[in-house]
Amino acid sequence: MNIEDAKKAVAKEALKFIEDEMVVGLGTGSTTAYFIRYLGKLIMEGDLEDVYGVPTSYQSRLLAIESGVPVVSLDEVDAIDVAVDGADEVDPHLNLIKGRGGALTMEKIVEYRAGTFLVLVDETKLVENLGQKMPVPLEVIPPAWKAIAEELEVFNAEATLRMAANKEGPVITDNGNFILDAKFSRIDDPLDLEIELNTIPGVVENGIFADIADIVLVGTSGGIKRMER
Ligand code: A5P
Repeated sequence: MNIEDAKKAVAKEALKFIEDEMVVGLGTGSTTAYFIRYLGKLIMEGDLEDVYGVPTSYQSRLLAIESGVPVVSLDEVDAIDVAVDGADEVDPHLNLIKGRGGALTMEKIVEYRAGTFLVLVDETKLVENLGQKMPVPLEVIPPAWKAIAEELEVFNAEATLRMAANKEGPVITDNGNFILDAKFSRIDDPLDLEIELNTIPGVVENGIFADIADIVLVGTSGGIKRMER
């Protein structure tokens, strides 16, 4: 199975978790994009009724609207039944690194509150230790970026300011902030590091999602593997 087929397969499988009258957290990224499109199709064809999506980014909001998923914001709902999102790395304990798409803050806000947080990945995302391949993104208040980058050296991390592809200068998040990508030489305790990074003044949120994923669906060449806590 190639990577795109793996993403499509887990996105289809995720539809089995969605029932009528559910409020669904809509993650960000290429894997969740398949899920949003499939979900919209089911809603448009009348196979699912009274389902609402809570987007985690402008990307997921625009795509949900285009696909026929009715969109509501977090402050309009009492609860989120299921949140569905991709990840950049998944360790054997279901700890995640997220935020390659820069939407980590709203993703964490929505996914933390979901009854079930369902993660969709292909097998290239599985790692033994977080940080093995990917940096940890941090959303930071713009004028603080340099001071925070310097402070991260204390953690043995090398931080770089994420630059935009189709604009001059840095990436600006949906919340108007910068992103620092911090490459750690080793992450021994993801939960500890997640909490510690958020104590640095100027850090809005970081991309370690420890202890919040409930189920991970992994698209592999041998089919879909399910990891659960
Ligand atoms: C967005 O900010 C990220 O957290 C994505 O969820 C993550 O990068 C996974 O994206 P893909 O499904 O495109 O790999």
